[in-house]
Amino acid sequence: MKYTRLGDTGLEVSRLCLGCMNFGSEQEWMVNDKEKSLRIIDKAIESGINFLDTANVYSHGESEQIVGDAIKGRREDLVIATKVFGEMADRPNGQGLSRKHIIWQAEKSLERLGTDYIDLYQIHRWDENTPIEETLAALDYLVENGMVRYIGASTMASWQFMKALYTSDLKGLARFVSMQPEYSLVDRHEEENLLPVCEDQNIGVIPWSPLGGGFLSGKYERGEEPEEGRAASDDYTMRRTELEENWQVLDEVKEIAGAKGKTPAQISLAWLLHKEVVTSPIIGPRTLEHLEEDLEAVDIELSAEEMSRLEAPKSPSWSREMI
Ligand SMILES: NC(=O)c1ccc[n+]([C@@H]2O[C@H](COP(=O)([O-])OP(=O)(O)OC[C@H]3O[C@@H](n4cnc5c(N)ncnc54)[C@H](OP(=O)(O)O)[C@@H]3O)[C@@H](O)[C@H]2O)c1
Repeated sequence: MKYTRLGDTGLEVSRLCLGCMNFGSEQEWMVNDKEKSLRIIDKAIESGINFLDTANVYSHGESEQIVGDAIKGRREDLVIATKVFGEMADRPNGQGLSRKHIIWQAEKSLERLGTDYIDLYQIHRWDENTPIEETLAALDYLVENGMVRYIGASTMASWQFMKALYTSDLKGLARFVSMQPEYSLVDRHEEENLLPVCEDQNIGVIPWSPLGGGFLSGKYERGEEPEEGRAASDDYTMRRTELEENWQVLDEVKEIAGAKGKTPAQISLAWLLHKEVVTSPIIGPRTLEHLEEDLEAVDIELSAEEMSRLEAPKSPSWSREMI
């Protein structure tokens, strides 16, 4: 495994972050087996991954609990990231980024993770109904109280992120050190939104869905209804199979993979690892085999010509509907 620093912090993180959304039972396409989930996390940590990403909403706390079990006895070796924003109770203050909700959920996440502190506490989305000053002050309180080491953000408009950074600077509050954007060879819209801000502000970038939910592994066929894999039961992943330009990207991925004796998933992850703005893609293995395959991406070299061939079929653009 290789390591780098998260944005402009001194925090050392592995170049692959283990996504823990699959570890739960909320959806048919998840692992749906605690023991199997624990084996995947074990193997990831044994292979040198020290960076794990979960969220309170993943299977309504179940993912955090599984991560909590997995990290017992080795907490200090690891960088644990989780998130707040999504609905955790169907009542007023059951979601969002108010001071009340954030502090309640931070305490709950600590309980579920079985730890005294969260390394990276991220806002999952922008909250249109809470002033950013209130959100930042609540996050700053968690940092000051030792419950959180660093704060991060995920998926929003670039002006919102820049406003948050500016506000924290202005008020002397803890500043976001990382951004979690959707980013893969088939989802490049953040090149036109958040990524230029991250580059300018030295923000660590940890892309989610780096394989487009599995599309970039090459398991689906043009013109055929997916019968297995996440796309069979998840509309969001399914929609990636409906765009001809995605298939053109995949054609290039497969050709380069074939020529180098690698798999399409490995080439797709290697492409992200070659983007200077990217710190650590958040991989989402559902099986041990996926994990073993994904781990090898760290050692793959791509030439400038291969990088541009992979990028040629798409002309990224961003719109508000993408958040
Ligand atoms: N901030 C956010 O809003 C947000 C949103 C989504 C995710 N995330 C984070 O990002 C992480 C990763 O997201 P993701 O799960 O969507 O990532 P992804 O890598 O794009 O998709 C993962 C899926 O791809 C398939 N797969 C993975 N590795 C494979 C391999 N080597 N060969 C074949 N198939 C493979 C598996 O699906 P099948 O086998 O079922 O086809 C797996 O469930 C999550 O765990 C979470 O931590 C954050």
